[in-house]
Amino acid sequence: MIGSDFWAKYFRDYDKLNLVPSYVELLASICQELRPEPGSLVLDIGSGTGNLALRLEGMGCRVVALDFCRDALQCHRVKHDDCRLVLADLTEGLPFKEDSFDAIASNNVLYTLSAGDQIRAMKEFHRVLKPGGRIALANPRAGWKPLAIYGRGISLSVQAVGPGVTVFRMVRWIAPTIRMFYYNRKLAKENRYHYFEPDEQRRLLTESGFRTISDTRWVYGGQAMLDCAAK
Ligand SMILES: C[S@@+](CC[C@H](N)C(=O)[O-])C[C@H]1O[C@@H](n2cnc3c(N)ncnc32)[C@H](O)[C@@H]1O
Repeated sequence: MIGSDFWAKYFRDYDKLNLVPSYVELLASICQELRPEPGSLVLDIGSGTGNLALRLEGMGCRVVALDFCRDALQCHRVKHDDCRLVLADLTEGLPFKEDSFDAIASNNVLYTLSAGDQIRAMKEFHRVLKPGGRIALANPRAGWKPLAIYGRGISLSVQAVGPGVTVFRMVRWIAPTIRMFYYNRKLAKENRYHYFEPDEQRRLLTESGFRTISDTRWVYGGQAMLDCAAK
């Protein structure tokens, strides 16, 4: 059984992902596709330690960050004590009125739910989004390869700072990210994750009532699908 010790360890390592250029690029791609207006109210679902939420705030958005893990929200609070946090389990429905948000973002969260919970959650996303609001979702594909994510990270780093500095930086992110992949395997075994096949996330968006669904953008070294839609 996954307990709070596990999550405390998981989130101690989690923010080392901020050193991995492919993760940073993934967050930037989500913001780019979502295109929120400055001042708009954005819900970050499964916000973890707040990396995406903080980036959206940097674009001038007002962000509500929702997660069911207290340890994650605590890490977020340390980074920004004025953040709006909601401790809630998204499989139990979202604790907001319908048409509450201008935009919704969610990175690497839906895949941690069962297929049945995924469709129920997506219908909740649709309910709380304002008409005309946009949603951006990214999730790893079934059979995703950690090495491809590293490969993309290394190539981005070499382009930005050259091979010498890249080797130095990798020393800092390799061990924690290997531990992250190990934690993910453990979680996947216990929780029966449902990873998406190509097009499955878009199909879920359609089935939940979203429209103008964009073509899938492959991100995170080609290992994750990023889909956008409107209500
Ligand atoms: C892989 S992390 C991604 C965190 C963050 N979105 C990011 O991009 O860094 C998955 C997050 O989803 C949260 N999560 C998983 N299932 C959830 C649920 N049923 N309700 C709310 N949060 C959930 C976890 O606590 C964790 O913070």
